[in-house]
Amino acid sequence: MEQRIIIQGGNVLCGRVEVSGAKNAALPIMAASLLTDGPCDITNVPDLVDIRTFSTLLQRLGVSVMGREADKLCLQAQTLSSCEAPYELVKTMRASVLVLGPLVARYGQARVSLPGGCAIGVRPIDQHLMGMRALGADIELDNGYVRARARRLRGAHIRFKAPTVTGTENLMMAAALADGRSRLYPAAREPEIVALAEVLNQMGGKVRGAGTDTIDIEGVAALQPFQYAIIPDRIEAGTFAVAAAITGGQVEVAGCRPEHLTAVVQLLRQAGAQVEAADRSLHVARQQPLRALNFATAPYPGVPTDMQAQMMALLALARGTSSIHETVFENRLMHVAELRRMGARINVRRNVATVEGEPGLCGADVMATDLRASACLVIAGLAAQGRTVISQVYHLDRGYEQIEAKLAALGAQIWRQG
Ligand code: EPU
Repeated sequence: MEQRIIIQGGNVLCGRVEVSGAKNAALPIMAASLLTDGPCDITNVPDLVDIRTFSTLLQRLGVSVMGREADKLCLQAQTLSSCEAPYELVKTMRASVLVLGPLVARYGQARVSLPGGCAIGVRPIDQHLMGMRALGADIELDNGYVRARARRLRGAHIRFKAPTVTGTENLMMAAALADGRSRLYPAAREPEIVALAEVLNQMGGKVRGAGTDTIDIEGVAALQPFQYAIIPDRIEAGTFAVAAAITGGQVEVAGCRPEHLTAVVQLLRQAGAQVEAADRSLHVARQQPLRALNFATAPYPGVPTDMQAQMMALLALARGTSSIHETVFENRLMHVAELRRMGARINVRRNVATVEGEPGLCGADVMATDLRASACLVIAGLAAQGRTVISQVYHLDRGYEQIEAKLAALGAQIWRQG
């Protein structure tokens, strides 16, 4: 039977919740293990479906994946048995494309299935391929696969049409083992990019400027193994902060990096929550009514597209009219139809959602359409009157570690069925 998440709404969240390691930092760092033949130790790895899928992909390539004990992972790419990322894995997780750069850089070839469309947008990988070509790779498309070859990559100036997170990561890894210097511009500036640069530099790579829009990389002949603790998940932290605010609770979101959440904190304060940032935690509370606001998503340090759906749930209960402009993905408003089923008043025109705040939401049967849309429905369910039943929760399991247990510990009535 298909699993469902059931929420009996109306409880106020109180207490302390610990944030897990960031999925979107862990995936590229796992891919970086392909750049060396020694054992790479990664800690604070979240136990998520996407992480398991990526481990399976690395194993298919011949990487030995050791010790999935607690939050540790040891990866060793001594000799590879294949350079192919097959369709059946790529179609379940687009981030599989992150093996392209490292495989070509170290082994001179890769065959990676083209990801195809996805629930939130077309999501092409043309910028990854443009960058690989600029580094000297020969790229062909064959039967839905990208085939890339290069005897040795050579440094290049790569100009993206717009910042891309996994595109920047793929090309950083490729350029780290290329001959000569590369420059990536405009590079994505997300904290996950900075984390990958730290790993590459620990491996003996020469990467400068990560966190700015210009990343300079001087290629080296070989890279060494690394040990790294994954940074906390800023989107999971933001999701708990919104959950605290929507229920009018008082929650310590522990083990996060407030400096990675500046734009989200600003929105929460504008919406009427009190948010105090400490060294490694956020304290979120709310007594006043929620206030409407306008925002547009943007690449880091702007409001993350990965927080747009959760913020929409919050604003569905705010006094007044809010406007939310999704600028990063062209089809990331699928949760609107589900929120409407819970009584939210939201209209969509192109990529702008206009939210007329309502005094309350009511529980309903709803369907998760992607990872962050599922988080939005959980948040709405926490605040709604009555019972919300969320289906297709496998989306949630891709990116939130033990979300029911964590929310239940804060006082939510939430459980899984099936
Ligand atoms: N784009 C192109 N061509 C490319 C690459 C991207 O046109 O070659 C476009 C995309 O279609 C999109 C925009 O550029 O419109 C930005 O996409 P980006 O490449 O930055 O996204 P991504 O690297 O595929 C990562 C995260 C996403 C997150 C986005 C934006 C990982 C594994 N995934 O995706 O996370 O939404 O950046 O911040 O890091 C999630 O965790 O729920 C999730 C979807």
